Amino acid sequence: MSDEEPAAASRRLIYGRRRGRKFSPTRETTFADWLPRLSIALPSADGVLDPAALFAQPMKAYWAEVGFGDGQHLFALAQANPEIGFLGVEPYEPGVAKLVSHIAARVSTGGPDNIRILMDDARLLLKALPDNSIARGFTLFPDPWPKKRHQWRRIVNADTLSDWARLIPPGHELRLATDVPDYQRWMLRHILAEPRFDWLAETSRDWLQRPADWPASKYEQKAIAAGRTPHYYRLRRV
Ligand SMILES: C[S@@+](CC[C@H](N)C(=O)[O-])C[C@H]1O[C@@H](n2cnc3c(N)ncnc32)[C@H](O)[C@@H]1O
Repeated sequence: MSDEEPAAASRRLIYGRRRGRKFSPTRETTFADWLPRLSIALPSADGVLDPAALFAQPMKAYWAEVGFGDGQHLFALAQANPEIGFLGVEPYEPGVAKLVSHIAARVSTGGPDNIRILMDDARLLLKALPDNSIARGFTLFPDPWPKKRHQWRRIVNADTLSDWARLIPPGHELRLATDVPDYQRWMLRHILAEPRFDWLAETSRDWLQRPADWPASKYEQKAIAAGRTPHYYRLRRV
């Protein structure tokens, strides 16, 4: 079987909303109260999602992270960049709930209200956004899908890279990371096959060292603790 994603006709969006164990009563209440006001409502079929319409104030630019996990990287980035509007996508409810708790604590004490969330499949957001609307994109430590017959499910693939190339204007960045050697090779193969992105690397330091403006994520820390070597890829839209 091919390692590429099946044709659109046979493709299905495989990630539903997923729930782990029960939340604490406090987290449950915060999640129920806050998620509706932070949620991104997708437009109906073929409609376009205007990121500016998601925020109360005009933002300088919009950045998007897909598969944010528990939101550690996204939240740190949003705190450091209050003038940017952040769109985060994650289908795993406990991860979303953790981020929602952090946002609720911050916004209710006067902090910036600059994160919006889609609790669903990343591809729905990537397809709904207009051209050149996202000034920086992120997919960090995506699920590895190690078996050959599952690799078409990898969220970094020719189709999503093409979506990012449509969304990110020339001169702006897409950031990818993985600690899985086979996914590192996979990412590089797909990056090099997408002419609209240049890989910003000259020496190995450029992919072995996390840049100073790139906050840590939970999976990155788990990978390092387990002795694995993350690679950090910065791609510039040509
Ligand atoms: C290995 S975790 C990494 C989480 C986080 N980026 C980090 O570095 O800590 C991969 C995440 O991608 C999410 N994910 C998987 N498929 C996805 C999809 N189609 N759209 C959005 N997120 C997805 C999973 O739920 C999971 O939280």
